[in-house]
Amino acid sequence: MHPVLPFEDALAGEEWRRTVAPFKMQLLKWVGNKQRFAHEIVSHFPHAFGTYLEPFLGSGAVLATLAPADAVAADVFKPLADIWAALGSDPEKLKCWYAERRGRIGLETKEEVYEGVKSAYNARPNGADLLFLCRTCYGGVVRFRKADGHMSTPCGAHAPVSADSFAARVDEWSARCRGVRFAHADFAETMTCARRGDLVYCDPPYSDTQSILYGAQRFSLSRLFESVAECKARGVYVALSIDGTKRSGDKVCDVPIPPRLFAREATVNCGRSMLRRFQMEGLTLENEVVSDRLLLTY
Ligand SMILES: C[S@@+](CC[C@H](N)C(=O)[O-])C[C@H]1O[C@@H](n2cnc3c(N)ncnc32)[C@H](O)[C@@H]1O
Repeated sequence: MHPVLPFEDALAGEEWRRTVAPFKMQLLKWVGNKQRFAHEIVSHFPHAFGTYLEPFLGSGAVLATLAPADAVAADVFKPLADIWAALGSDPEKLKCWYAERRGRIGLETKEEVYEGVKSAYNARPNGADLLFLCRTCYGGVVRFRKADGHMSTPCGAHAPVSADSFAARVDEWSARCRGVRFAHADFAETMTCARRGDLVYCDPPYSDTQSILYGAQRFSLSRLFESVAECKARGVYVALSIDGTKRSGDKVCDVPIPPRLFAREATVNCGRSMLRRFQMEGLTLENEVVSDRLLLTY
């Protein structure tokens, strides 16, 4: 267990910001992932905290960059949660899932393998197929059709990483996630577990694009703000990544933030928006540089 400093002494601040080494070796490709700037986000975390909780895990970029000694990490999307459960309990299984599907390329074309795995996934959504699909699909954007909920992204133009390269990633991630309990849960349930001195990092779906992403989960920001307020009242630190702002200053999505819930706000440079890149195939993206807001209750 981490020693927990008194609440006031453990606070971060500009003058306290620590330097965090980037960790850019992605395990999963996931839209909205924070892999490239996770170290910037972590640099705003308090110096000391008890358990780290990440209720919107996605591809786990912030979790793996932090590599916490004690953590709870969860996502409501069951096939994704199954991938994380495998990493936590049996990393060799994860390697086999990928190698078995990646190994078919050559016997069949990449597109044929991809479409076969996609059909199998759509018939019975599961972590093993999702793992291969997210690494191989166009732009790493796993998206779902509104009409029937089927995964609909076409095959990407790139060659998916080799089974050996993926296995090396699993080993690295497994070492970084040694202290993590993975769960399949709604964010509110995960956040209920946070105690005084713990840290919760939230990276919820962008509210204006969620209908085609993440299996079209229902998500409400106002419900999240209630959980944040409850955590704060218990003495839990909460950091929340929210929306992107175009370079022009226009909001990508407009979020009413309850007054006095957060004490500070930092801006994190996110480079170009993956979602935009996907929607605008081939168009210039010069004015699509976004920055995330990081709201801190401490
Ligand atoms: C923006 S992504 C997180 C990206 C992550 N930070 C990363 O680096 O990959 C949001 C995640 O929240 C999950 N999600 C959506 N609704 C949720 C809910 N009600 N409870 C928990 N997770 C949810 C989605 O499945 C998705 O993986």
